Amino acid sequence: MIRKAVIPAAGLGTRFLPATKSVPKELLPIVDIPTIQYIVQEVVDAGIDTLVLITGKGKSKIVDHFDVYPELEDKLEREGKHDLVEALRKASNMIHIVSVRQGIPRGLGHAVLCAKEVIGNEPFMVLLGDDLVDAKVPCTRQMIDVYSQFHKSVVALMEVIPDDVSKFGICAGKMRSDRIMEIEQMVEKPKLQDAPSRLAIVGRYLLTPEIFEILEKTDPGKGGEIQLTDAMARLMKQQGFIGYKFEGERYDAGDKFGFLQANIAYAMKRPDIAPKLMEYMKSLVNSCKK
Ligand code: UTP
Repeated sequence: MIRKAVIPAAGLGTRFLPATKSVPKELLPIVDIPTIQYIVQEVVDAGIDTLVLITGKGKSKIVDHFDVYPELEDKLEREGKHDLVEALRKASNMIHIVSVRQGIPRGLGHAVLCAKEVIGNEPFMVLLGDDLVDAKVPCTRQMIDVYSQFHKSVVALMEVIPDDVSKFGICAGKMRSDRIMEIEQMVEKPKLQDAPSRLAIVGRYLLTPEIFEILEKTDPGKGGEIQLTDAMARLMKQQGFIGYKFEGERYDAGDKFGFLQANIAYAMKRPDIAPKLMEYMKSLVNSCKK
C-alpha cells in the first residue's frame, strides 16, 4: 500500500562540524555501516520499493554509497575476502533510488516538497537521514500498519525530557490507546512553558500527498526554514493526524551524544566487538571511580 519513501539528507549538519565540512553526516558510520544504510534497510524491510533521496551540495557521495563497485568486488573476491564482498553487495542494489537535489537547504518541509514529482498522488513515508530506530518490527512497518487502520497521516512520537522539548515538534491530543493519539495540536520547537506536552515528533512520518499542496503555500517559520511541522499542522486540520508511540529505541545520529550512544548500542549487539567493548567500558568506569 505504501510503495515510496523519502529520505531528506540535504541538511548542513552544523551540529557535527567540523566533521561534516566535507563528509555528509548521513555517511558517518555506526560501527562500520553508514547511518543512512541502516535507514535504507528499514525502508527495504518494510516492503517499500522506491526511495527518493534528497541530496544537496557535497552530498553526492551518499548516492555513490548505494552504487555497485565491481572493480573493488573483483579485487576482494580474488583475495578471498568473501565477507567484505558480501558487505559491499549488501549496500548496492538495495532498492530503486531516485536522487533529487535540494539546491539550497531551505528546511525539512522544503526538502520533502522536492520529492513531489517522484511521489505523485499517493501516501508515502519520510525518514530523516540521521535518525535511527532500532526495533524488532521496523518502525516504518509499524507506521504502515497504523495507517492501514486509520487511513490518516501518521507521525512517530516519543516522550522527551523537559530540556529537550524546545528541540522538537511537539504534539498533544486524545489518546485512543496506549500508543495511538488523535493529534489536536502540533507546535514546532516550543519553549518548555508553551509546550502542550512532552510528546515529540521524531524522524518518521507517513504522509498523504495533500501535504505537497500545503507545503507549496507554507512560508518560512522557526529559524527562517520551511518547517514540515507547520505544514503537518495544517494537514491535521483538513484530514486529521495520528501520533504513534512506536516500539523501539531511537538515536539521533546527527547529534554528537546520540551518535556515540548509537555506536555503543549497535556495537554491543556485535559478537565480534561486544566482549572487548564491555571490558573497555568497565575499565573506564573503574578508572573514573578512583
Ligand atoms: P536537521 O535539522 O537534523 O539537519 O534535519 P541539519 O540541518 O543538517 O542539522 P544541523 O541542525 O545543522 O546539525 C533533519 C533531516 O532533514 C534533512 C537533514 O539532512 C536531516 O537528515 N534536511 C534538513 C534537508 O534535507 N534539507 C534541509 O533543508 C534541512
